[in-house]
Amino acid sequence: MPATRPKKRRPGAHIAVAGVNHHYRRSGSDVLSDVNFEVQPCEAVALVGRSGCGKSTLLHIISGLTLPSAGEVRIDGALVTGPSPQWIVMFQQPHLYPWMTVEQNVGLGLKFAGRPRAEISERVRELLHLVELDGYSRRNVQELSGGQQQRIALARSLAVYPEVLLLDEPFSALDGVTRRALQRDVRRIAVDMGITLVIVTHDIPEAVAMADRALIMTSDPGRIADIVPIEGDRTDREKRGAFAQASQKALQTAFERATGRTADGPLAQTSSGNLKVIAAGHR
Ligand SMILES: Nc1ncnc2c1ncn2[C@@H]1O[C@H](COP(=O)(O)OP(=O)(O)OP(=O)(O)O)[C@@H](O)[C@H]1O
Ligand SMILES: [Mg+2]
Repeated sequence: MPATRPKKRRPGAHIAVAGVNHHYRRSGSDVLSDVNFEVQPCEAVALVGRSGCGKSTLLHIISGLTLPSAGEVRIDGALVTGPSPQWIVMFQQPHLYPWMTVEQNVGLGLKFAGRPRAEISERVRELLHLVELDGYSRRNVQELSGGQQQRIALARSLAVYPEVLLLDEPFSALDGVTRRALQRDVRRIAVDMGITLVIVTHDIPEAVAMADRALIMTSDPGRIADIVPIEGDRTDREKRGAFAQASQKALQTAFERATGRTADGPLAQTSSGNLKVIAAGHR
């Protein structure tokens, strides 16, 4: 496990998902069926689909938290058989330990890896600078806002030099301004550090802001129905406003085509409600 700083900037890891099917023991039918795709090193891919189509299940399978009923996931050619600090999942909630300080939360993975205290302190300082929370190391996490807590969770994820970051709607509980700032920061950090990203989202603007490609999933069972490339600057799509708008439109159109949704019903039961906006646009 690369808990120590890699000697050179890495190119990111390659992910291959092949023939993945999944059914949960309690549910009779397949949740995922014949899912196949690859993510190139250092690429960012968004999984976009309606609520319940199997996005989180697929992300958990990539991370090794869930083993697929059939098929396999390989990261840099190695079969994924369980979780690893090399591929980290970030969830919707930051899941910080409230009885620990910011420094203890961020340095936890390094502590488990047996790194010396001075090295952990130095690394935590560096990471807090990266997520723009310099000087917060001694603070109690309960004193922080939701956005700040999510930044701490991001710093903790990055502490162990992961090669893959798997994001399960990690910004959906945050306000729009904080969400956009974090989307941009995570993308920039991933490009700088050589991290491959897989982002689960309901939110088409989020997919456009963060990803190089969007994989559109359909439900019952969950499948990849379409793959849409996203144009524009990799680290800051706002710099390419026209590209972002065109990509958003293309992705919205592809989503509606793939899911076959009309304007009659909500496209997803989401906290952000963004896909409902898409439906409204087709009235
Ligand atoms: N542990 C479980 N046991 C049984 N069924 C499950 C389990 N987890 C998820 N499911 C079912 O699998 C399907 C896919 O769930 P999943 O959480 O992967 O969807 P999702 O696309 O992430 O949805 P959302 O956008 O609402 O988060 C759903 O029908 C859900 O009820
Ligand atoms: Mg989910």
